[in-house]
Amino acid sequence: MQSFPSIAEKHPERRILVIDDESQLAHTVKSLLTTSGYDVQVAFGGREGLRKLDEEDFQLVITDLRMNDVDGFEVMRSLHERPYIEFIVITGHASTESAIEAIHYKAFDFLTKPFDFEILRATVARAFAKIETDKFRDDMISMITHDIKIPLSSIIGYSSIVFDKKTGQLNPRAQEFVNTISSNGAKILALIDNFLTSCKIEAGKLVIGSNPVNIHYLIDDLMSVFQFEIERNQLSLKTDLCEEVPLVLGEENLLFRAVSNLLSNAVKFSPRGGKITLQTQVLESDESPLEQRSLLIKVSNTGAGIPEEDLPKIFEKFRRGHSEHGIEGSGIGSYVLKYVVEAHGGMVQVHSVPNALTSFSIFLPVQPSDSALEASPER
Ligand SMILES: Nc1ncnc2c1ncn2[C@@H]1O[C@H](COP(=O)(O)OP(=O)(O)OP(=O)(O)O)[C@@H](O)[C@H]1O
Ligand SMILES: [Mg+2]
Repeated sequence: MQSFPSIAEKHPERRILVIDDESQLAHTVKSLLTTSGYDVQVAFGGREGLRKLDEEDFQLVITDLRMNDVDGFEVMRSLHERPYIEFIVITGHASTESAIEAIHYKAFDFLTKPFDFEILRATVARAFAKIETDKFRDDMISMITHDIKIPLSSIIGYSSIVFDKKTGQLNPRAQEFVNTISSNGAKILALIDNFLTSCKIEAGKLVIGSNPVNIHYLIDDLMSVFQFEIERNQLSLKTDLCEEVPLVLGEENLLFRAVSNLLSNAVKFSPRGGKITLQTQVLESDESPLEQRSLLIKVSNTGAGIPEEDLPKIFEKFRRGHSEHGIEGSGIGSYVLKYVVEAHGGMVQVHSVPNALTSFSIFLPVQPSDSALEASPER
């Protein structure tokens, strides 16, 4: 069973490279921005700057325009094709002309020496906001063009044949068509939900309430969402749910999406005729990796599985396995799953034996069972 470092610990990284052959200025900028929470590196001159940009990832470059070896224009020219990187140029007070030229060229903004720290900080914050907006726009375009168009076309296509156009009679296969429409609608909703959740995660705006959520109700709802896909692919699904009402404090729609992402993968990556099991179990503190009373939700499926070297990568955003040709997806479900579970104080573990069985285990802190009935909402 493998566990991986928390996504929250790695996030967010806002890396800045300051390039200036005046080492004192470079160090001052570094220390000022470091206190504002940025990860800042310094390069003394354009040549060293280009080397660092080649070796490491930076989202923002603050560069002097006039440098002896390689100047600021050359630095920008060299990175002309790199996406999601912005430049702020620093100029002497007599060189506003070249600063304007730099803006026309590629720079996001310029600062004239000597500059005020508040202006520097505000300019840097605006540059990062622009990078985020650019990324959001591109991810959105990619999601719409690659992932939403196909299920949406299918919905339009099937809805046009539910009734015979000439006679107005219900097509004998109407039920199958409606099921396909509903299943494609659920796919689009999952995609939009995951995308918006990932945007909130990245903006640090994901809010987790502490409402009592009965995980078994949530699983019941999910069964009806996946029933059609399960039947269509002749999969067998065995559920083994614990007796206790498993009550988790948190955000119901996020927990729904997390468990849905898990089941969606089990359904999608099982071959025709494959087997899926879904189990819930309450673990005492000495049995749980959370070292507190926990709910285990374990989903296993047969199929090709995940090679060991891919396991740490599957929770990264937009990361898909190597063997997914033909299986739709955008590589966002497991990223959201892990983040949501961890934001609820939980943990995800995965174990896969390729061409045999893949199991995902979610551990979530669970409320004492005697609080379950009074807190559980009516259904
Ligand atoms: N149950 C599973 N069996 C086999 N491979 C899996 C399973 N779950 C996840 N994976 C692998 O992990 C990758 C990442 O999973 P993730 O859910 O993030 O993406 P996806 O399912 O491809 O796309 P999306 O969830 O956005 O529709 C998958 O592409 C697949 O390679
Ligand atoms: Mg998925």
